[in-house]
Amino acid sequence: MAVVCDESLSEVFRLLREGAGIDPESCGLDSIAHVVRQRASASGAESPQHYLRRLLSDSAEFQELLEDIVVPETWFFRDSLAFRAVQYYLDACHSRGREKFRCLSVACSTGEEAYSLAIALRDANVEPSQLYIVGTDVSRRSLDLARHGSFSARSFRDPDAQIVALCNRWCERTGESWQVHDDLLAGVEFCWGNLAQPEFLAGEPPFDVVFCRNVLIYFHAEARRVAVRHLDRLLNPGGLLCCAAAEARIFSEAGFRSLSAEYPFAFRRQDNEVDVSATAATARQQCSETRPSQLGTVSSALPAPRYADCSVTAANRAGPGASGAHVSIGVADGTGAEASQAATLRAAQQAADSGRLDVAETLCAHVLALEPGCAEAHYLRGVVRQAQGLLDEAQESLEKALYLDPRHHQALVHMMLLAERRGNRRLAENYRRRAKQTKPMEAK
Ligand SMILES: C[S@@+](CC[C@H](N)C(=O)[O-])C[C@H]1O[C@@H](n2cnc3c(N)ncnc32)[C@H](O)[C@@H]1O
Repeated sequence: MAVVCDESLSEVFRLLREGAGIDPESCGLDSIAHVVRQRASASGAESPQHYLRRLLSDSAEFQELLEDIVVPETWFFRDSLAFRAVQYYLDACHSRGREKFRCLSVACSTGEEAYSLAIALRDANVEPSQLYIVGTDVSRRSLDLARHGSFSARSFRDPDAQIVALCNRWCERTGESWQVHDDLLAGVEFCWGNLAQPEFLAGEPPFDVVFCRNVLIYFHAEARRVAVRHLDRLLNPGGLLCCAAAEARIFSEAGFRSLSAEYPFAFRRQDNEVDVSATAATARQQCSETRPSQLGTVSSALPAPRYADCSVTAANRAGPGASGAHVSIGVADGTGAEASQAATLRAAQQAADSGRLDVAETLCAHVLALEPGCAEAHYLRGVVRQAQGLLDEAQESLEKALYLDPRHHQALVHMMLLAERRGNRRLAENYRRRAKQTKPMEAK
């Protein structure tokens, strides 16, 4: 077997960077080296230089190498709040008479994300004829599995009872695996695409919803820029983009506008001037007046909203029934310092909603300097810090909010997301349970 020396490895790393946008360090240099050694040996290469030459001249070998390096980890309703965000967006911004609702799952791996989107939208009463969902990935092996729509128990990891019920409704158990219903299968297409290359989905009309999660974390800075440009092109002016929480910073720094502070991973294009928070409240009201609607509403079998519209929440939490006696913001007829504090918090919320995180942070600090015991300000600061990628600081702020108001629903949800992000499933489950026991205030 050819011993792959450091020099040859650096060349392979360069190829991965240029060919697939992958930052070798983020995938683990040792594990890549191990894969390269295995492939060099399997291909019968006589020397490292020989294997390198083969990689450079044989795109099929490069594809095989890539297949062994990429991380295909995914499951149904992974970070399920994202699918709630889609339903929220659908309700808030989607014109109900629309003929088609186009969704794209970039780096979809074995397809669970694309099928989850299909399930979430069908669950929200979107008709199959209105739905067009495409999944793309650089891994042909993953795409083949995705097209079959047959999954093992590992693909159904979310223990939430409602998600389990939803998956059971759309997937049928056959022995040790679960098969997606034909009806769903027929509505989801899969095609190969390399997000790091200039020709990625060239000529494809834009989409209403784009999911691109847990792939940019493996990309180097320039590849991220290329990817963000593609995603910007592929998103309708009013469209919704969901990334993973750990990737949110990439999009806020690129000028995407946050959907709402409740969904730190959901964005809209900057050129859209619709105030989603306001529209959402109006849409909810319209929905309750005009059901059944042509397209879906927020009522669905997905887990009950673990959030409320934050813009409204800030004003509502101090209303009758709000927990935490010290929270005095948002009282409509408030006067003096309280009213001014409420206004500052609302401004902070708006700044956070529109992605001006530094402004939101300054305004929270201002409120807290005057009233250190304001749970809402600690909570909002935690959300802002989470969106900034400052996880320790976010946790600290959210913990303070919960110390002051142990039943603060949104703070519990964000603590759950933080714990999930850190891979602490037990803690996440603990927060999930607590959040479920606290009912979010309804938007008026
Ligand atoms: C961890 S999975 C994410 C799956 C799914 N989006 C999720 O969040 O559960 C990462 C996926 O990114 C894909 N990927 C890596 N580099 C890519 C590239 N340059 N273009 C498209 N997909 C890529 C991998 O093949 C893999 O399927």
